[in-house]
Order: sequence, then structure tokens, then C-alpha cells
Amino acid sequence: MSINDERDVEALKRVGAIVAAAREAMGAQVAPGVTTAELDAIGKAILDRHGARSAPRLAYGFPGVTCISVNDRIAHGIPSRKCVLSAGDLVNIDVSAELDGYWADTGASYPVGAVSAQASALLQATRLALQDGMSQARAGAPLRNIGRAVERRAKQCGFKVIRNLCGHGVGRNIHEAPSVPNTFDRQDRTMLRAGLVITIEPFLTLGSTMAVQDPDGWTLRSSDGSLGAQFEHTMIVTGRGPIVVT
Ligand code: CO
Ligand code: CO
Repeated sequence: MSINDERDVEALKRVGAIVAAAREAMGAQVAPGVTTAELDAIGKAILDRHGARSAPRLAYGFPGVTCISVNDRIAHGIPSRKCVLSAGDLVNIDVSAELDGYWADTGASYPVGAVSAQASALLQATRLALQDGMSQARAGAPLRNIGRAVERRAKQCGFKVIRNLCGHGVGRNIHEAPSVPNTFDRQDRTMLRAGLVITIEPFLTLGSTMAVQDPDGWTLRSSDGSLGAQFEHTMIVTGRGPIVVT
């Protein structure tokens, strides 16, 4: 969507604050022995308390409230009582929701207990890739600069970018145009306009550049089983950089 007035900004900030609070509360409970169903219940309680509805459930009939993806499962993981976190895992928590017709989307990856030096470097690089992408989200600038910045950071840190998962427009639905690639597309002539609402969500891995669908019909895994991480914010593009609402 594109912001029309201050009411739009306030409404996006409201739903953005709710998904951010859910992500934070869930992330704070990440520990060995915790199940992804338990984390999902924490997120659900926060969405319910504010009257917000799970975006993946509402838009796609997803079986959970939030998406929780462990290690090589990099997106759209289904929360489960059978999925018990172990020390050394990376867990991605992605929370998106709708409130009063406005939608916001956020995600973060967390270490479970002590993780390898490589896993913690991957987390740090992915966090920086998101920051680098966000620094390019300015009205009047080419959209492709975001992907270029993400890709540059991944390369510099020795990691790969998943090419077939992208950020996206958001605001009046969960997935809107434009697609916000995490790689540089020279052909893309899209320019960022003031008021455009997008997510930026780099997915970095230790090796794979493609996500493939699991037989469960939802979970996306790295194609070679390599560890992945993702961080995501929803933001409003302005001439002075993004207003982050999550
Ligand atoms: Co998301
Ligand atoms: Co998203």
C-alpha cells in the first residue's frame, strides 16, 4: 500500500507494535527444551489480547498462528508440540498480523542456548544485511539498491543469499507488490516512492541459494540442508529513509 494520511501511519504503527511485541515475547522464551507450539501460543496470546488476527492463517489458511522455522527450515515452519528446540539450533520466528484492515510483518532468528561461532556470525551478518537494505529504502532511489546492499553484505561476510525468497509490499494485505528482492537485479527499473509500505527480509545461509518446499506443503527448507537466518521489518519509505513500524 501507499500511505495516504496520518491515519494510515497510525494504524500501521498499531499493528506493527503488536507483531513486534509478539516477536519479542516469543524470542525471550527461546531455550533448549521449549517446543515451537509453546512459542506459538505466546504469540497467539498477544495477538488475541489486541484483537489482531494471524496473517498467514487469515490469508492462506496456515495451520499455526506464527511461522517458526528451525535450522535448515528457513520459512513458514508449522509450530508443533513435536518440534523441541535443542542447544545449538537457530530458530526463526516470523509474526505477521492484521488489525482494522492493516497488515504488518516482522521476523527474527534467535540462537538456542550456545551456538557455533559460524551460526552466530550468520545471525550477525543477516542482521547487518537487513540494516544495509533499510539504509537504501529511500524515496526516489531504485528498489534494486536494497538487494544490492543485502547481497554485498552477505558476500562480504562469506554467506549466501536465498534468491527465491523476497521482501514485499504490505499494508492492506500481507503480500502486495512490489517484490523486494534480496539480490541485485540490473533489469529492475522500479523506483521507491514516498509512502510505499514494504518489508525487507534477507535470508542468508551457510551454503544454499534456493529454498525448496517441504512435503508438508508449507515449510521452506534450504535446498542443501544448510543453516539459515532471517530478519524482517515492515517500514514506510520516505525521502529521509524508512519509518520502521515493527
Ligand atoms: Co514475515
Ligand atoms: Co514478509
